[in-house]
Formats: sequence, C-alpha cells, structure tokens
Amino acid sequence: MASDRSGWGAARGQLPVGQGAAALLRHSLLWASRRRSVQRAVSGSPLTRRLVRRFVAGEGLDDAVTVARRLAARSLSVTVDHLGEDTQDAADAAAEVAVHRGLVAHLAAEGLAEHAEVSLKLSALGQALDEDLAFGHALEVCEAAAAAGIAVTLDMEGHDTTDSTLRIGARLRAEHPGTGLVIQASLRRSEADCRALAHPGSRVRLCKGAYQEPAALAWQRRNDIRAAYLRCLRILVEGGASPLLATHDPALIDACHRLMARRTAIAAPHEHQMLFGIRGDEQARLAAAGETVRVYVPFGRRWYPYLTRRMAERPANLALVLRALGGG
Ligand code: FDA
Repeated sequence: MASDRSGWGAARGQLPVGQGAAALLRHSLLWASRRRSVQRAVSGSPLTRRLVRRFVAGEGLDDAVTVARRLAARSLSVTVDHLGEDTQDAADAAAEVAVHRGLVAHLAAEGLAEHAEVSLKLSALGQALDEDLAFGHALEVCEAAAAAGIAVTLDMEGHDTTDSTLRIGARLRAEHPGTGLVIQASLRRSEADCRALAHPGSRVRLCKGAYQEPAALAWQRRNDIRAAYLRCLRILVEGGASPLLATHDPALIDACHRLMARRTAIAAPHEHQMLFGIRGDEQARLAAAGETVRVYVPFGRRWYPYLTRRMAERPANLALVLRALGGG
C-alpha cells in the first residue's frame, strides 16, 4: 500500500473524502496542483503572486532569511524548509546538501541561529535511491547546521518511509542528539514509536499527519486523530521528551495545555509550531503568552504544489485564489 505521494501537506482536507462539494473541490485543487498551465496562470499574475507570498517566503535563500528576520523581530522562531521532495537522481540529492549548507551559513551570518532551525525531507536527499546515501547527506547537513548552532528536524513523509526515517533519525541522533523527529499521530503505530522516543532531550514534532493513508494503518476521523494525538503527547511528556506541537487546531492546543499541566509538576519543555501564513493571530497570541512559537517557513522554486495543497486543505482559501485570478 503506497501513501499519497504528493508530499506532506497534501490531501487530507477539512472534510472526510466523499462529502460532496467539498471533496470535489479538493480533488479539483489537487488536480490543479499537477497542471503546469494552471501554475503559469497563478505565477503570472501579480495578484496571485501576493497570495503565494502569504504561504511561501519566496524562491530564493534571501527570501527565506528575510522572512526569518521579520518573524524573529516579532519573537517568533522559524524552521526553514527548502521545497522539493522525491528526488530520483543522485546529483539532485547532492545539490540539496549544497542548498542547505548555504541556508545555514546565511542564517548564521544574519545572526539568526538562535531563532532558526532547518526542516529536512529525506526523500529530497535521495532516500528512495538508497537509505545510506540519504543518511550521509543528512549527516552533512546536520554537521554544517551544528557548526552554525542550528538544529535540524527530519520531516516525516508517507507511511512507507516511516521505518527508514526513524532509522536514519536514530543514526543522526547518535552524533547530533538534538535532531528533531516527527510523529504523525494519525498512524496507528505512532504510540509505539512515541514510547521509543520518550526520553529527556528527545525533540519530537507531533503533527496529525498530512498523508492520505489507508484505514488499516491510520485513524481517519477527525476526533479519533485528535484523541490519538493526545495519547502520543501523554507518552512523550511522561517520558520527559520535548514535544513540538505542530497543529493549528485550537481545541487540540487547549487540550495539549491541559494535559501538560496535569502530567508535569513543572511546565514541560515544549514549543508550538505552525505554518507560515496560517493562523498568524494565534502565533502572536501564544508568543505573547510566553510560549515558544516556531513558524515553518517554506521557500524555493518548487512552491506550486505546496501552495495548492494549502488551498486544498481549506476550501475557504479557494476564494482567495479566485479573487486573485479574477483580479477582484
Ligand atoms: P486542522 O487541519 O484541523 O486545522 C485547524 C485550523 O487551522 C483550521 O480550522 C484553520 O483555522 C487552520 N488551518 C489549517 N490548515 C489551514 C490552511 N491550509 N489554510 C488556512 N487555515 C488553515 N505533516 C506530516 O505528515 N509530516 C510533517 O513532517 C509535518 N510537519 C509539519 C510541521 C508543522 C510546523 C505543521 C504546522 C504541520 C506539519 N504537518 C506535517 C502537517 C500536519 O500533519 C497537518 O496536516 C496540518 O498541520 C493540518 O492539521 P492541524 O492540526 O493544523 O488541524
């Protein structure tokens, strides 16, 4: 069984598959994400370019660093992601290492190391070609990042890569214990994975999971996923790990705070993580309340699929696209 391979952030949407208009809309958006003609229309219009800039820092390193600086001035940390995944070519995988070296050097030179982290997709580093190759590339990035005082988190992709990603993560942690790993609460296996990662110093980004996975492997209903998320969080907190709460869901954020207050005598070392352009008001509110908030900032030339996935996740966003394309 393969996951939806169109990348994290794809596909789950706001409503269960099959709910009439919303499902049709989401499928149309995911279809649009693969059409070059639609991409040309979106990137050609100055109005849609503004929309792109709401969710994506820009195409270049400078754009990512500018956004990181702007967010740092508002007491928000960042994790920067170079867009692109599923590399099938060894030269492209090696080129990703160079991009990340440039990124950490640039962040450090701007004095942003204290506020910055880098998110890595192993599939962009050649995971599908050879696990050792991807590990070697990831290690190079971790070494460059560590020299600059910047941490790295490995994004989690489809379920068919989970074991490999956790293996590579464990090897990286042997040399760089601060390397963050991601758990997708919707996967039924995740409580067991959390038990293995629940120890002091272990940084674990907990998200719902963005891939459309089969029911045999993953919870499908929104409330089941929320409940699984809280079970995972409880395991991490009780083991003394540092949970990185990657969700925009207000009910879930409240429940996480209640759980952490009940389970630990002192506040658990945790942080909130949200995507650039989504719930900026909540990011500011949490930061003002003294929480560490890290914003996931994507950049790069391959922004188009990422953007359409953000649209598909929340059909209300389509109004923004239509307004921008129509010039209204
Ligand atoms: P949910 O989708 O229920 O959204 C809650 C609320 O947030 C909505 O009601 C709305 O207000 C707002 N919102 C959410 N999406 C929006 C959008 N597109 N546009 C506007 N508003 C929106 N997944 C994965 O599989 N592997 C990974 O490595 C990561 N990494 C990751 C890092 C970070 C920092 C975040 C925030 C998320 C991820 N994810 C991920 C994605 C995650 O698994 C999940 O798909 C999304 O965060 C959406 O789920 P929420 O928990 O935010 O709730």
